[in-house]
Amino acid sequence: MEQTKRIKISVLTIFPGMFDIIKNYGVIKKAIEKELVEINILNLRDYTSDKHRVTDKPGYGGENGMVMLAEPFYRFYDEYVLSKNHKPYIVLPSPQGEVFNNDLAFELAKKEELVFFCGRYEGIDERVKKIVDKEVSIGDYVLTGGEIPSMVIIETLLRFLPGVIGSKTSVENDSFYNGLLDHSHYTKPQDFRGMKVPEILMSGDHERIRIFRKKDSLLKTILKRPDLFVKKELDEEEKKVLIELIQEMFNKNSDNLKESQDV
Ligand code: 6GU
Repeated sequence: MEQTKRIKISVLTIFPGMFDIIKNYGVIKKAIEKELVEINILNLRDYTSDKHRVTDKPGYGGENGMVMLAEPFYRFYDEYVLSKNHKPYIVLPSPQGEVFNNDLAFELAKKEELVFFCGRYEGIDERVKKIVDKEVSIGDYVLTGGEIPSMVIIETLLRFLPGVIGSKTSVENDSFYNGLLDHSHYTKPQDFRGMKVPEILMSGDHERIRIFRKKDSLLKTILKRPDLFVKKELDEEEKKVLIELIQEMFNKNSDNLKESQDV
């Protein structure tokens, strides 16, 4: 049996309720029930030291907005890391971070304990970064806080844990896993409003179906994400399939040409 790995994820946020979205639905809810993952959502205010439980103050240097205090993050760190002698990997979602992708998700999924620090407002006191292992951005645009990016990162990495997604091959066939976009999918009915499912998918010939899907993946990637395609190192089979694809397209084209000359 496959070794089951359990990952512990803690999130520090001033909006713990936002995380109900990922904890209570679909595959992540199931993964929690199966004890493949433990997700602890912690209220940053529980780590404040004043009676008003303040987590932010105006920034120094005449900035307009508020900056999150370093203190609550350090108090969490003292309690979690120093007193319990744990060594979690601490992620700070931030537009200044390394841009997130499947490879980074795969790396994060290997950790045993992860912590996410969610910032809001103009940002977090720079001194928090001293205890952060990696700043991660989810793309070149700005959100109002780290909660949604944390959820994006958590959901992506959990898909790589054995047992979270029903079949390993469905993770391996997904877009980006092998540097290509996923192939097309069809379900019943075979004829939907005149649009037919490709015959070959009903043939039961698994090898031909596999090659058909590889071709579909390659073509989709070339058409929709040429930037991915030029980075992709093709294996021997992919090269062969690509040549067939070009030949088929060329033949179709010359058939069309013949037809138009016949007229
Ligand atoms: Cl991780 N945080 C915020 N606030 N905005 C972002 C981001 C993260 N990634 C892209 N934009």
